Formats: sequence, C-alpha cells, structure tokens
Amino acid sequence: MEVGAVLDKVDSIIDSYKGEEELLISLLQDIQAECNYLPREALIKVSERLDVSLSQVFSVATFFKAFSLKPRGRHIINVCLGTACHVRGGKGILAKIERDLGIEAGEPTQDLRFTLETVRCVGCCSLAPVMVIDEETHGRLSQEKVPRILENYR
Ligand code: FES
Repeated sequence: MEVGAVLDKVDSIIDSYKGEEELLISLLQDIQAECNYLPREALIKVSERLDVSLSQVFSVATFFKAFSLKPRGRHIINVCLGTACHVRGGKGILAKIERDLGIEAGEPTQDLRFTLETVRCVGCCSLAPVMVIDEETHGRLSQEKVPRILENYR
C-alpha cells in the first residue's frame, strides 16, 4: 500500500474510533491489519490526531511483539529451531529457505510475499523438523520439500 493510501486509511480508522484516545492499541492493531506493519508516517499521524506524544505511540508499538515497525511479507514463515527440530535438520531447512528466497531470517522478501522468522518450539516436536507458515504447520520437512510448499503461498 502506498504512503498516501496508508495515510487516508489511518484517517478513516481514527474517524471510526471517534477520538477515543484510550483505544490507541486497537488503532495500531487496525493499522497493522491493513498495512501488515506500522509505517512511521502512520504513527506520526496517529500521534497528531490523538494528541499523544510520538514517543508514547512508539513505546506502545515496540512493547508488543505482535506489532512490527518494518514492512512484513503477506505470509510469515516461522522455522522452528527448538531442540527436536534442531537435531533433525531445522538449521538446514532455514538455510535452504534463506538461499531460495534470497533473504536472511528476520527479513521480508523484496516482493513482500514472505517474511522469514525463527521460533523455539511450536509444540509439535514429533513432527520435527517443522515450520509454520501463517497458521499452517508443515512437519517432517526436508530441504527437498521446501520449494513445493512455498509455491502454495502467493
Ligand atoms: S522443537 Fe520444533 S516443534 Fe518442538
């Protein structure tokens, strides 16, 4: 979404809250749902419209792990590097995805199709090695299976 369109969206989201400042967190959630992250310009506008200091807006935005200040891909890949996944090749899975997508863990792809993250155990160790894309778990992975799985996410 372009910056101008984002700012228009911020206006309409703020208007929908009718200036209720205590709803800052809900507002940031809505902006993130629209843009997939919290653009700096949007936070400045929130600060101005709600008459809350920019540092306060940033402190809320950085306090919650669910918020991202950097652009994020449409699909979030979480490669598990917990113990069970690690001993069954989790690091190799991560390296394969990094090579195929041309990014490192923590980064989005240029086309914002994916963001690659790592996690420590997602609770299904019997399926190790595991990755979770959005809400979907992919287990018993091998490096060979990775490209076909990623193909399913446009
Ligand atoms: S260590 Fe990967 S799911 Fe538990």
